Amino acid sequence: MPTLKIDGKDIAVPAGTSIIEAAKKAGTFIPHYCYHPGLSVAGNCRMCLVEVEKSPKLQISCFIPVADGMVVHTENDRVKEAREAVLEFLLVNHPLDCPVCDQSGECELQNYYMNYGLYESRLFEDKVKKEKVVPIGPTVMLDGERCVLCSRCVRFCDEVTGTHEMGIVNRGDHAEITVAPGKELDNAYSGNTVDICPVGALTDRDFRFKCRVWFLEKTSSICPGCSRGCNIEIHWNKERPYQTPNERVMRLKPRVNPEVNQWWICDEGRYNYHFIDQNRVLYPMKNNGKDLVQASWQEVMEEGSWVMKELQNTAVIVSTDVTLEDLWIAKELFIHKLGIQTIAYLPTKKSGEEDHLLRKSDKTPNTKGAQALGFEAKANEIFSLAEAGKIKTLILFGHNLIDLLGKERAQKIAEKVDSMVWIGSNQHEGMNLAKWIIPSSVYAEKDGTFMNYEGRVQRIFKAFPALGESKAEWQILKEWAQHIGINLPYENSSVIFEKMVQAESAFNGMSYQKLGEEGVLLNDSKDEGRGTMDDGRKKHVL
Ligand code: SF4
Ligand code: SF4
Ligand code: FES
Repeated sequence: MPTLKIDGKDIAVPAGTSIIEAAKKAGTFIPHYCYHPGLSVAGNCRMCLVEVEKSPKLQISCFIPVADGMVVHTENDRVKEAREAVLEFLLVNHPLDCPVCDQSGECELQNYYMNYGLYESRLFEDKVKKEKVVPIGPTVMLDGERCVLCSRCVRFCDEVTGTHEMGIVNRGDHAEITVAPGKELDNAYSGNTVDICPVGALTDRDFRFKCRVWFLEKTSSICPGCSRGCNIEIHWNKERPYQTPNERVMRLKPRVNPEVNQWWICDEGRYNYHFIDQNRVLYPMKNNGKDLVQASWQEVMEEGSWVMKELQNTAVIVSTDVTLEDLWIAKELFIHKLGIQTIAYLPTKKSGEEDHLLRKSDKTPNTKGAQALGFEAKANEIFSLAEAGKIKTLILFGHNLIDLLGKERAQKIAEKVDSMVWIGSNQHEGMNLAKWIIPSSVYAEKDGTFMNYEGRVQRIFKAFPALGESKAEWQILKEWAQHIGINLPYENSSVIFEKMVQAESAFNGMSYQKLGEEGVLLNDSKDEGRGTMDDGRKKHVL
């Protein structure tokens, strides 16, 4: 392993590591624009110049691999002067848009100027004008003047998605970024180009001007959009709802996890957040035969005693949108305490598109978790029993039977069962078939864990309180159990997780602390491969 000195600090890194990555390991940040660890090296911006002793010229640290005995300086006067010069060139034609630019606050041109620039301008010529506010696809807006031509977006579309929509045309100060003639930036991962654009050239049409980024709160979570379990950050704000008066979540961003999603998320997942605040079930309801009307928790809980009366005729179908903690409490209550045999899991969404990068066809986050806890995929058996009049009480967790089974079959089932109880978060047509509606919280409103398709257990964190009277599913089940004299002595999700680990051998050795940022694979799970290209193109591995 070569050992080198960076700013006086010795560090040993594997052969082939670039200086910029070696510096990162040594705790030294080298400013850069075109370099991105998930893309090939372009070496075009020159922002990462460093001095390597015995080299006559400054070297680009993103491209030069380390060598044994190398001595690197990243902060001496020569390097600082070169950085200032690069910034001066970049700003020659850059518009003074910061006050109205959506990237303001997370722009590397702003940040680097404040950290490494701070020179007096020597240029008074008119700036070259380019096209602004160009919608180059359904998700991305381009401002040509702000582009620093780093080519990250071009390489992303060439190397990661393989869709080749973006390119750089013309030369010199007339060079500009554009989409290929007749094309739109419309691939399943287009939003990532906004994340990797270091300046305000590419902005997100969904997020633009909703909220200044410095007002955003950030909570780590897991995308519930499919069984990949991409690591995300929920960016939210409750105080400044300029354009979205009834929405707390402003955007979702990818969180790097080399084992799951690397740097990326898909657009389906990225824009799948409006349900957190829209169309929610806010309080318990009962069906009076004509309409759904508001009910009290007391009424809902008392009505729960039907399960005690009709145990042999009760069926439960849990969903794979809820956490492992919710599922384990369901198992404790329905299987262990009440002895219900007619219990199954069923995803709330139909299968969808899958691809070679990240997206999985199972559009729910915890199917593997339901399987690991022993729930069986026998919902169809239960529906047939219900159609035959053999189920008196059917408990569903958010399922839309009309969507899953078709209107006719769903209605038949609803007519045959005496009492359908629906525990869920978002309103839909199928909910109206239920006799009792119990409002549950969504993933952004609770702590817990999901298990992704390969058996990786990952944590979600509560960003903000649950809307209305909604509660986590485990809390609903615990309260309802109490009402019928069953004590489930668990106060929070972490205690439930501990108990689950003790009871379920597959989870041996896990704890919230051990799950950390990247999650832990279930015992006996195989790493089935992270989000890499598997069709012979470049593999993006750290
Ligand atoms: S649009 Fe952004 S990512 Fe693309 S080349 Fe310009 S600065 Fe780089
Ligand atoms: S691939 Fe799946 S988990 Fe990842 S962002 Fe898309 S929907 Fe979410
Ligand atoms: S980051 Fe090294 S040349 Fe651009």
